[in-house]
Amino acid sequence: MKTIISTLVIATTFAAFIALLVIYTGMFNVATEWEDPAPIRWALVTTRENSIESRAASIEVPATRGDKQIDTGFRSYREMCAICHTPPGGTDSPITKGLNPAPPDLAKSAKHMSAAELFWATKNGIRMTGMPAWGVTHKDGELWDIIAFVKKLPEMSKNEYLALDARLEKGHDHAGGGHDDGGDHGNSESKKNDAHQDDGHAHTH
Ligand code: HEC
Repeated sequence: MKTIISTLVIATTFAAFIALLVIYTGMFNVATEWEDPAPIRWALVTTRENSIESRAASIEVPATRGDKQIDTGFRSYREMCAICHTPPGGTDSPITKGLNPAPPDLAKSAKHMSAAELFWATKNGIRMTGMPAWGVTHKDGELWDIIAFVKKLPEMSKNEYLALDARLEKGHDHAGGGHDDGGDHGNSESKKNDAHQDDGHAHTH
């Protein structure tokens, strides 16, 4: 019994020593350029999938609201998501290329994830990846509009995406009335960001 206890104490002290060594010496490389070894990647992906699945289980998916909701969701997706999650037939942005883990193709995610799971990940983000929590700045209703659009992605061709993009071209949809909160919010959000950048500019000079 005594030897078991002393072995445990030695093992714990050693593990703590290694952990402190990694934390304090800078030996761990935080650069994004290197790929996680397969077992680590497996552990991270499985942890993420199970975390999202269990938390999404109690989420009730509201009824979808037709084409108008898809249009609103599309505008928000174009504004907030497409920069990282490359749209059908699009080319990866510098942000997409520089992120590790890489932002997945949401057309593929939408095939294997339920609407509730997509919603949970979108609302809460994914810790220690580039995936932001959109629930901090957006209402649930706005996020469900995006999910309604994302669920359409698997069956959307590049040409269909481009046609939607052209039809809902920025600035062309304001006169029609009935413009939903999603698009408006996206626009006011980017205005806010612009103002913020101007602030930063003023400070640095
Ligand atoms: C700054 C880049 C960035 C932006 C902007 C972004 N995402 Fe992500 N997203 C990521 C990354 C990176 C991951 C992968 C995380 C991982 O591998 O664990 C991800 C993962 C996801 C996932 C989980 C997919 C899966 O297969 O597990 C969903 C759903 C998602 N994002 C939805 C969205 C939506 C919807 C938006 C827009 C409202 C958005 N994301 C905007 C970077 C981004």
